Amino acid sequence: MRILSGIQPSGALHIGNYFGMMRPAIELQERGEAFYFIADYHALTSLNDPEALRRYTRDVALDFLACGLDPERATLFRQSDVPEVVELTWLLSIVTPMSLLEKCHSYKDKVARGIAPSHGLFAYPVLMASDILIYQSDLVPVGNDQKQHVEVTRDIAAKFNARFGEVFRIPEPEIREAVATVPGVDGQKMSKSYGNTIEIFGDEKALRKTVMSIKMDSQLLEAPKMGIEKMVAWQLFRLFAPPAAFREMEDKLRKGGTGWGDLKKALFESYRDYFAGARKKRAALEADPDAVDRILQKGAAQARPIAQATLARAREAVGLRRQAATST
Ligand code: ADP
Ligand code: TRP
Repeated sequence: MRILSGIQPSGALHIGNYFGMMRPAIELQERGEAFYFIADYHALTSLNDPEALRRYTRDVALDFLACGLDPERATLFRQSDVPEVVELTWLLSIVTPMSLLEKCHSYKDKVARGIAPSHGLFAYPVLMASDILIYQSDLVPVGNDQKQHVEVTRDIAAKFNARFGEVFRIPEPEIREAVATVPGVDGQKMSKSYGNTIEIFGDEKALRKTVMSIKMDSQLLEAPKMGIEKMVAWQLFRLFAPPAAFREMEDKLRKGGTGWGDLKKALFESYRDYFAGARKKRAALEADPDAVDRILQKGAAQARPIAQATLARAREAVGLRRQAATST
């Protein structure tokens, strides 16, 4: 089984990314042949700062490795180190109906938030389809917001196969319902572009402040707490706390005498403990700057021949000369 997913280097990674995509991806590396990449071509649709793109790309690699991605088991690489994916995007775009892209929520949301409505942003799902199809992926672990893009990918693959013969495997999304949408500190979906994130790594003092600033209702300290499940702080605490600690906090809140401040303190501590090991690992990785480059280069060398083979088949299927240009 081949597992594939990507993450954009468009900002510091947060716990929504972690629970929605990174943790499932890390677990899945034990179950099949895993390919995970840093979607730098995609990030360019919203980030036009070359220095920031380079920095975030490196940070995503460090974060992913620190959280448990094992480069001996999984292939980690930069999307742009396999440029064949862009040529395949063109071949796929031939069979992609405009109406399919016009339906995509992500494009509409991004434009509503002020990102310039470029052709690249509109065609984003076709590049994503190419990412998935070029590696003949079976399973794509993502958060809920990417489900539609995987469905678009399946449609494009089916259309291409029907018109030109069986070239692509049809992938399935893998979405963990319990963490499909992690809320941000303001209650909306946590997202780099909403300024409502809790970063996985970052300055602990600032993170404590962010956690303590989560809005609660005005129930008094002494009151037995009502509507606990609706509180963002509670929903986040659930993700980190070991079951015993979680039940104990629930009892205390229901009894009264324990305030929302205590819950937020417990949330911060459980979050900090959860990532303590990863934090240490990240510091060690940072101390050897070449190591990340070596891992990414090795990843690209493993991924590229697979992409070249698929592209060659697709070229032949549409009537182009089979031999795609190779330049390794
Ligand atoms: P962001 O919205 O912060 O820019 P991305 O679009 O780069 O995040 O998402 C990277 C991965 O993390 C995707 O698989 C996405 O579904 C997942 N993800 C992002 N935010 C969340 C969230 N709040 N809850 C669950 N998964 C998320
Ligand atoms: N669009 C995804 C996101 O914003 C990132 C991505 C690009 C991706 N290509 C992919 C995810 C292929 C899974 C498979 O999160």
